[in-house]
Amino acid sequence: MQELKTSLPNSYHSIMELDLLHRHVDELFLQHQSYLMIDDLENALLTFEKIFEYTNQNILDEEEYLIPYYASHPESIPQGGAVYFYEREHKLLRRELMKYLKMYSEALLHPDSVKLDIVRIFDDYYDLKDLFDHHDARERVFLYKILDEILPSGKKKEILKNISERQRVLLRKMG
Ligand SMILES: [Fe+2]
Repeated sequence: MQELKTSLPNSYHSIMELDLLHRHVDELFLQHQSYLMIDDLENALLTFEKIFEYTNQNILDEEEYLIPYYASHPESIPQGGAVYFYEREHKLLRRELMKYLKMYSEALLHPDSVKLDIVRIFDDYYDLKDLFDHHDARERVFLYKILDEILPSGKKKEILKNISERQRVLLRKMG
């Protein structure tokens, strides 16, 4: 089985370090695909649930703590980092992840009537991976980088503390 090389840290020292969560999700995705390849649907669903929960938490954190401050400093935002890109991509990511989550749950609950077309799924995953890569890169280049530059250090510390506390709760729940 595809081993996970990354783990989430107990605390963060910069906004850019939040990219570790993106890397962790990338690895969970490889692990999920490995389970699909050996027809272990239960673990494939379990790893996909983690992908969904971690990504959803990342989106919630960004929308609650990061994007409002970023949006209130339009003079620091270049064209490629416009707020509507994040909103649109978050919506797309959530929608795509929900679609697969529903499909795997159905397949596990009704194995006789719902058959998974693994070749098709792997082909469709190119688009999903592309969306993740594109979005993660936009955050590294604009959102995270700019916030590291403009956030006052006290506020940054407080935001990072809140985010890591939420992640610890999620880790305890999901493993
Ligand atoms: Fe995001």
